[in-house]
Amino acid sequence: MCGIIGYTGFEQAAPIILDGLTKIEYRGYDSAGIAINANGKINLVKTVGRVQALYDRTHDGKDMPGVCGIGHTRWGTHGAISERNAHPHMSQNGKFILAHNGIVENYTRLKADLLAKGVVFKSDTDTEVVVQLLEANYTGDFKEAVIKTVAMLEGTFALMITCADYPGTLYAVKQNAPVILGLGEKENLVASDVTCLISRTKNVIYMEDGEMAEITTEGIKLFDFAGNPKEYEVKTVDWDIASSEKGGYEHFMIKEIFEQPQAVRSAISPRIKDGKINFGEKSLTAEDLKKFNRIIITACGSAYYAGLAGKFAIEKLCGIPVQTELASELRYNESGCIDEHTLVIAVSQSGETLDTLSAIKDCKACGATVMSIVNVVESSIARASDFVAYTYAGPEIAVATTKGYSTQVAVLYLFAVYTAAALGRINSGEYTKLVSEINAIPEKMETCIEMNGGIECMTPLFDKAEHVFFIGRNTDWAVAMEGALKLKEISYIHAEAYAAGEMKHGTISLIEEGTPVIAVCSNMRLQDKTASNIIEVKARGAEVTMVGPKGCESEKQANHCIYIPEMRDVFAEIVTVIPLQMLAYYVAKARGCDIDKPRNLAKSVTVE
Ligand code: G6P
Repeated sequence: MCGIIGYTGFEQAAPIILDGLTKIEYRGYDSAGIAINANGKINLVKTVGRVQALYDRTHDGKDMPGVCGIGHTRWGTHGAISERNAHPHMSQNGKFILAHNGIVENYTRLKADLLAKGVVFKSDTDTEVVVQLLEANYTGDFKEAVIKTVAMLEGTFALMITCADYPGTLYAVKQNAPVILGLGEKENLVASDVTCLISRTKNVIYMEDGEMAEITTEGIKLFDFAGNPKEYEVKTVDWDIASSEKGGYEHFMIKEIFEQPQAVRSAISPRIKDGKINFGEKSLTAEDLKKFNRIIITACGSAYYAGLAGKFAIEKLCGIPVQTELASELRYNESGCIDEHTLVIAVSQSGETLDTLSAIKDCKACGATVMSIVNVVESSIARASDFVAYTYAGPEIAVATTKGYSTQVAVLYLFAVYTAAALGRINSGEYTKLVSEINAIPEKMETCIEMNGGIECMTPLFDKAEHVFFIGRNTDWAVAMEGALKLKEISYIHAEAYAAGEMKHGTISLIEEGTPVIAVCSNMRLQDKTASNIIEVKARGAEVTMVGPKGCESEKQANHCIYIPEMRDVFAEIVTVIPLQMLAYYVAKARGCDIDKPRNLAKSVTVE
């Protein structure tokens, strides 16, 4: 979603800000803008569409002199996608410039007050209210204007502000949207995303809600919203720049698909020592785990489907009821069933998804314990949780997640085995076997990628289709849902996943001559059952591609086969998903889609 970057230092700011904007393009946006505060003169350029247009219109930033400025990528919420609604926004007298992530919920009332005072608005955004308020509250003291303005706001807001009277100074404000400060050598930066800071500094401060920061070349001062000084802790980011670049691949998505075995290795290996699973000192102990009588896994999008894979593994191995709940639904659940005996597991790559964050806050308020499985270190969800297990996937840039998903599944598998052992639900022999199977996953993933090196030649079976149906049972159903999501989000082909046995209760009426159906058949226990569902859809004209190991029952029934290595069903999803990701990628490529930045989608969804 929206991204912000700010720079104050000794180098020309515009090229640095444009580069930062390029690095956050992956989050998803529809317009962009840059403003430079050069000795009291504000230079503002905005555009609809890609950041490249800002490069073109400013000769790669060279036309914008000055060493301090801010940039923004907008994913519109209030007001159409247009240049005038793009950020940064300028106050009426041209003194204040502001970029905002989030939603100002009380903007209608604030706007009415300003309109009554004769303020003329240039955009339809909630954000412009904030910049006009800054001007109204300004009596010559920048900090005081920020304090007064912030006190009037309700909602979620990460703000970045500069003032013509204060060249070289930026103010950042954080309330329920991420803001990270970067400490450099004679330069300091602000961003909504750590990936746009790492090319200049690895020393960062993660701002907390209710904090504002004054950023100059001399340093960073942190305050609470009343303006009282606060201490801060500088942390070091261990992501490197190479991992956030394409490295010769045509798209981030395919690079990240191929990175999965390594990413999963990074998620697994630090947690297995001498054949034993260890989540580190600050993890749930056997005693903690004994007090839970149910587990709720909550997440959005692919993270939700990762949660579904986790559900099957935890229920099978631990015998604890596990519910998977979409975070946007869990937030408004009125069952009253969540209490101190509930463990809530929040799954999120970005750690910033607003629905997931709000859901865990609500669950905590009901007495639940929250553990999160998160990729981005120190993200909001990680900080709002009682326990955190990081996935160590490294930066994921393509909007459609792949390594984010598989590392989440890997951590859930580890958690399932860890919990089963802690609760005494498996014996030591079974435990050793399960741990060694988890250890073998990265290699199986490598084999699977190799086995499917030629999968691109299957794209003609799908790239002209209007609908593609995915079917599978149990663990294969979880994978089918993720496979359908991958295909629809990047290729724009309508794709739906169904529990294989459920199709005949309605959806089978959509099958016509030649309708492509992908049958996921990794689960050997349910081979025969899925094979009969293949026969059912084939009888109605479907062209079936099965995804399963060589020699399985479904192979005999399907029209086409995608092979995967044989796996025990409890850990099968993480490998089975790979050819589905690859297929979605090549189909989208054949259709000429913008694979890494699919239309209307955002990487990190920070609005409700
Ligand atoms: C967006 C992304 C998805 C992701 C979902 C949840 O929709 O496009 O790829 O699965 O958000 O994101 P999270 O960061 O919480 O895993």
